[in-house]
This record gives sequence, C-alpha cells and structure tokens, in this order.
Amino acid sequence: MREPCAIVRDTLAYIGTKVKPGITTRELDRYAEEYIRARGAIPSCLGYCGYPASICASVNEVIVHGIPGERFLHEGDIISIDLCAYKNGFHGDGARTFAVGEISDEKKKLIRVTEECFRKAIENLRAGTPLYDIGAAVQKHAEENGFSVVREYVGHGIGREMHEDPSVPNYGKRGTGVRLRAGTVLCIEPMILAGKRESRVLADGWTAVTADGKPAAHYENTVVIRDDGVEILTL
Ligand code: MF3
Ligand code: CO
Repeated sequence: MREPCAIVRDTLAYIGTKVKPGITTRELDRYAEEYIRARGAIPSCLGYCGYPASICASVNEVIVHGIPGERFLHEGDIISIDLCAYKNGFHGDGARTFAVGEISDEKKKLIRVTEECFRKAIENLRAGTPLYDIGAAVQKHAEENGFSVVREYVGHGIGREMHEDPSVPNYGKRGTGVRLRAGTVLCIEPMILAGKRESRVLADGWTAVTADGKPAAHYENTVVIRDDGVEILTL
C-alpha cells in the first residue's frame, strides 16, 4: 500500500501548487487525474458509485464530495481536496485543505485545528487502542476550539477496497469500541465545521454542505496501526 499512498501524498502536494485565484475546480481535477495516471495508478474515485471525477473539490461551506466543475477559486476561499489512488491491488486515500491566497483568521484557525485533530487522534494510537478513542480525541480538540464535528461522514478502513470496515467516526466516547490490531490500515479524516454540526446534501446527490453556510475543513491520512504507534503512509 506504500506506493498508492505515496502517489496520493504527491498528488495532493502537486495540486496544492495549482490552487490559486482564477483556476476552476475542473482544471484541478484534470491535473490530478493526469498526475495519478502518469504514476501508473488509477484514480479510485472516478466512477465510484457513479462519482464523475477523480478528486473531490470542496470549497468553503462544502464539507466533502464537492464535484469539480466550472466554479472559479477566489482569493479568500478555502478548498479541501480529497483523492484516492489504486495501484498494486490496493488503494491509498488522503485529503488536505488549502488556502486560496490570503484567507481570514477564522479560516486559518479552522485549517490548523483540523490538522491538529488528526495529530491528537494518532498521538496515543497503537495496537490495543479502543477504536472510538480516535473520534473522542478529534471531537475534544474541535469542540475545545469552538468548532463542531459533522456526524454524517466518517473515516474508514482501507485496503483492496477504498472503504472497508471499520467506520472511524470523528466523535465518540473514550475507552469504547473494538481494540485495534497491529496491521490494520485506517483512513483517519477529521471533517471539522466552523459553525454548527448539521449538514445537508445538494440536489446533485453528492455535495455535502454545512447547513449554516459556515466553512468546513478536511484533513486525511492513511495510517497503519503498529504495536508501538502508527505509520502514516500518505505523508
Ligand atoms: N476519498 C473519500 C474518502 O475519504 C471518498 C470519496 S467518495 C468518491 O472516503 F465518490 F468520490 F469516491
Ligand atoms: Co477516506
């Protein structure tokens, strides 16, 4: 899985260099698809349950699953890019939120706290850790910072399929859930909302937005549980 995950990492970094005012999300999708294929991998999202693109491009109030299109990026926007690559019979999955030019202090804090939520989640994570300790750590850090956690979208196991058991919520009670075993591969992906936790899906059937219109951020890595900690495959 190291190879598809390294391709995800590098594609995210490459797309980060393309994020600028004036570019459309469709152009970002084209760059990502070309890059993933040039590395000998397949963009897993394309065609998944009928999904029409290689990346999810979620701007401002879009939480996840924004479909690339003719939307132009503007100075002050934030954009979450989520993508998967399939190679060697396995998938890798990762997401980052980027700033478009200069952004507000609130958006800066949202991006920072979302990444910190991931860090808190893996801090004490190792074989034997109860599954819902992950969500408990994410929820605590998000809420302590005045943000909220969407309930309708969660992390997941990954391997030969893009989504495998178990579901990995970003909320929960410490000390509960199955105890994770060494060798398990999970996608840990805090999706943090600046306002209230409610979400809704647009008429396209995919685009998940915050109900209150406030911004959201997303940060995701594919990690392996080890006896002494985690190995992050998409960094
Ligand atoms: N990469 C997303 C995840 O984190 C899944 C995207 S849904 C798709 O699970 F339809 F775009 F593939
Ligand atoms: Co994922």
